[in-house]
Amino acid sequence: MPAVIDISQLTKTYIMGQTKVHALRGIDLQINTNEYVALMGPSGSGKSTLMNLLGCLDTPTAGNYLLDGRDVSKMDDSELANIRNEKIGFVFQTFNLLPRQTTLENVALPLVYAGISRKERHDRAAEVLDSVGLGDRLDHRPNELSGGQRQRVAIARALVNRPAIILADEPTGNLDTKTSIEIMEIFEKIQANGNTVILVTHEPDISEHAHRIVRLRDGLVESDERNENIVRASDPTHRYNQA
Ligand SMILES: Nc1ncnc2c1ncn2[C@@H]1O[C@H](COP(=O)(O)OP(=O)(O)OP(=O)(O)O)[C@@H](O)[C@H]1O
Ligand SMILES: [Mg+2]
Repeated sequence: MPAVIDISQLTKTYIMGQTKVHALRGIDLQINTNEYVALMGPSGSGKSTLMNLLGCLDTPTAGNYLLDGRDVSKMDDSELANIRNEKIGFVFQTFNLLPRQTTLENVALPLVYAGISRKERHDRAAEVLDSVGLGDRLDHRPNELSGGQRQRVAIARALVNRPAIILADEPTGNLDTKTSIEIMEIFEKIQANGNTVILVTHEPDISEHAHRIVRLRDGLVESDERNENIVRASDPTHRYNQA
């Protein structure tokens, strides 16, 4: 089967006045459907830049990106927005929820752009919120939720369009250890449901749940290895579940 994500010699150079920042210097990477990948590497190595390109939030300076066989590296903004809505769910470290909207409204929002009726939007949002354990928090606003609950709302929002690929940039970066493991259980479930999951993390404790670990350094892939010792976040004998 062809890779769902196939990038070759992907380059991103930011222009800052007179200086150029070479954030990505030629990345080659293939990711298959249903893989579970952790992207690691030091601060400034290009992880977020790569995630933004993979998520069709930005376009590369050079190189190719085939997403499900379609060349997205040369798409314009509206084509990118369409393919992003169809195929990608993005989760951010800082949740990026709308503060005045309820949990239900935050999650239903992406469906507005998909042209789905209000009733179905709310039904689908409630269903996916239930699947992340927030069925009893539909009317809360973000400041009435814990950090872990906010991140679960953000994950529900990423899932509501039923995208094939979930991208998460340091989704546990603002959470304590126990809450992080709860969030990792959700990603584990998403992958088990057939989705492709790619997440950025600094923490070895988080990357050990992934099946493959890709390390960046200075805008290049430094290593790309199968994780031989996968730790299941849902494992009842997991050290963090031994409370
Ligand atoms: N919008 C931007 N404009 C200019 N330079 C940028 C921009 N975004 C990132 N950079 C630069 O590109 C390089 C890679 O940044 P990136 O955010 O991808 O790193 P990162 O691996 O995600 O780091 P961190 O672990 O700290 O989040 C850095 O040198 C950064 O300063
Ligand atoms: Mg980053």
